[in-house]
Parts: sequence; C-alpha cells; structure tokens
Amino acid sequence: MKIRKIQINVEEFSGGEPLPDPDKKLLAAAQQTISTSYAPYSGFHVGAAVYLANGQIITGSNQENAAYPSGLCAERVALFYANSRYPGIEVEAIAISARADNFAVDYPVAPCGACRQVLAEIEMRQKKKIRIIMHGQNGFTQVVNGIENLLPLMFSEEKLKRSK
Ligand code: THU
Repeated sequence: MKIRKIQINVEEFSGGEPLPDPDKKLLAAAQQTISTSYAPYSGFHVGAAVYLANGQIITGSNQENAAYPSGLCAERVALFYANSRYPGIEVEAIAISARADNFAVDYPVAPCGACRQVLAEIEMRQKKKIRIIMHGQNGFTQVVNGIENLLPLMFSEEKLKRSK
C-alpha cells in the first residue's frame, strides 16, 4: 500500500484584495440573482452566473420544493439553461454566491457534489477548464481553475469504456 498525495490549487482573495475584473462582473451577476431564489425550506438563497464563450452571462438561482429532492441548485439551473439556450457554446466560468435568512454566509460557497459532477461533464465535453469563483459575504473568495481541483478522482465518461 502506498499513499498518493493529490494537490489542488485554490486562488484566495481576501481583505480588500481585488478580484480580476471579469470575475468581479460575473460575481455581481450571481449576487443579483440571489433575490430570485425560491428557498422557503432551507432559507439558504444561492445565485450562480455562468460566463459563456459567446460573451453571454446566464444566471440561475436555487429552486426548492416541498418534495425536497425535486428542487435544484442554482449552479445546475444556470448550467442546464445555458446549454439549452446556447447548445455547444463553451462554459468559461461560473460564479456562486449565497445569502442565508438567519446568518451571514461568511465562507466561500462551493458547489455541492452533484453540481461538481455536472461541471465535470461539461469540462470533458468541451475539453476546456472552467473557472469556478466561490464567494463569501465578507469578501473572502476562493477560485479554482478546473473541476479536478474540486473533484479529484472523478468519475467520467472515459470510465464507462473497457480499457484495452
Ligand atoms: N444549494 C445551491 O443552490 N448551491 C450550492 O452550491 C449549495 C446548495 C442550494 C440547494 C438548496 O436549495 C439549498 O441551497 C440548501 O442546501
């Protein structure tokens, strides 16, 4: 047995250190979208904004349901809509931000496991990494370039094929 160490790279911005302008713009779109969230059950309102290679920004917010698993995260609302509105156009970046009814979301909001899997599929399909911008209310923001930084040892379409 041996231990394999896997490194992930995370850019961190805090204490007034400015985000690059394109990240800031996408984050502003994600923040604006939080108000469209339907989250009466969790009280956790999430906004996501996707930047496409054609320059379009597509936004989405989490949509909950009394039958809990029928709801959907902000990231997948935005990503699925982006691909249905602009099929085949590459996703370059996604920004995520949240507000909670009862506390300050002072940590960067990272996508859930299912949304990471969806991001992985999109990356595989387009063969281009996605920049993932995760925002916290106090301005502490983490950014990764590529889903392998959030989903090491991921399952993908390749794994469905018999190795030769
Ligand atoms: N949620 C998102 O929309 N994105 C995330 O990254 C984390 C969780 C939603 C799902 C659910 O509506 C609520 O936040 C609480 O989990």
